[in-house]
Amino acid sequence: MKLSTVIVFALTLAASSFALTAEELLVEPPAILPGSQPATTKQLDMTGQPESEIVIKFSHVVAPETPKGQAAERFKQLAEQYTNGRVRVEIYPNSQLFKDSEEIDALQRGKVQMLAPSLSKFGQIGVRQFELFDLPYIFPNREVLHRVMDADIGKGLFKKLSTKGLTGLAYWDNGFKQMSSNKPMHKVADLKGLKIRIQPSNVLEAQIKALGANPQAMDFSAVYPALQQGIVDGAENPVSNFYTQKMHEVQKHLTISNHGYLGYAVIVNKKFWEDLPPDIRDALTRAMKEATLFERDIAQRENDDALAKVIAANTTVVYSLSPGERTAWHSALLPVYQEFDNVIGSYLIRSVAHIAQEVQKEQNETKPKGKKAPTKK
Ligand code: LMR
Repeated sequence: MKLSTVIVFALTLAASSFALTAEELLVEPPAILPGSQPATTKQLDMTGQPESEIVIKFSHVVAPETPKGQAAERFKQLAEQYTNGRVRVEIYPNSQLFKDSEEIDALQRGKVQMLAPSLSKFGQIGVRQFELFDLPYIFPNREVLHRVMDADIGKGLFKKLSTKGLTGLAYWDNGFKQMSSNKPMHKVADLKGLKIRIQPSNVLEAQIKALGANPQAMDFSAVYPALQQGIVDGAENPVSNFYTQKMHEVQKHLTISNHGYLGYAVIVNKKFWEDLPPDIRDALTRAMKEATLFERDIAQRENDDALAKVIAANTTVVYSLSPGERTAWHSALLPVYQEFDNVIGSYLIRSVAHIAQEVQKEQNETKPKGKKAPTKK
């Protein structure tokens, strides 16, 4: 039996009929946070009367050409169209307005109206169940991931955000993470002692330690200079982030390890959202739905294109783990599950394993005879 199968099996022990409802995720009373009013500017309408325009400042930390950056642009275009210009969306990419360590606080204080932080950033504001998404090798493919996001688990997690004065609108993809450094990393032992930049997540910290390396949490905007100056030896990110931040210029090796996942929750300030006129909220919801479909459609392709560009740049050796090496990485990372079982909730972890089993079963039923079910995409 393959180790990945063993992991799924181990996680689903006694959980075969497990079904989680959103209500089963404990919801705490809402925190009292300063709300934000829509930022408005007065304009004249066709009759010469002042009409208020609602401005949504959408801040994010990545490049405009990444999946998140492109989807933010698509949302802007659709939101302005569907509200007939009553809403204007201003996009601030590349940590221009706020760094990742500042942006959620800025949203809660109403300094911006919309963000799409990576899912790894929510554990730090006290919603530890989001660390589910950081568990190594938990999603065998995007199908499983999307079912987790779109059904009870994803909805339950969004419910928990409301206790922080936030409203979750959508889950966006980036992709599976790869490991980079200035030395080849094939065996787990190759990572020993390396300083690896991580996002501020307890699971990611434990993951890097389990690989024998030293985790260093820092803002996304600090990663390139930290790599350039040797403050850290390596980092983990989907290739779209690796390429668009030019990390290939300062990292000699990239290991295609697919050891974890990086995706986003698009969030708004709860009070801002609830105070919007209902027709505006409906139009923005429609725009967000379409932008999300667009985002999920391009994410894998953008990562594949970025990988082709990294290879073409010829500054970084790209290595894919062999099946045996991948199994060794899996084994080294298994203790992380035990460590976080209580924090994240074993019911959530088992539920993902159950969904993975269902997807696998469906794929086996529909796959043409003699062909293997697709792996990570
Ligand atoms: C990171 O900090 O590595 C990511 O959160 C950046 C991003 O938003 O994709």
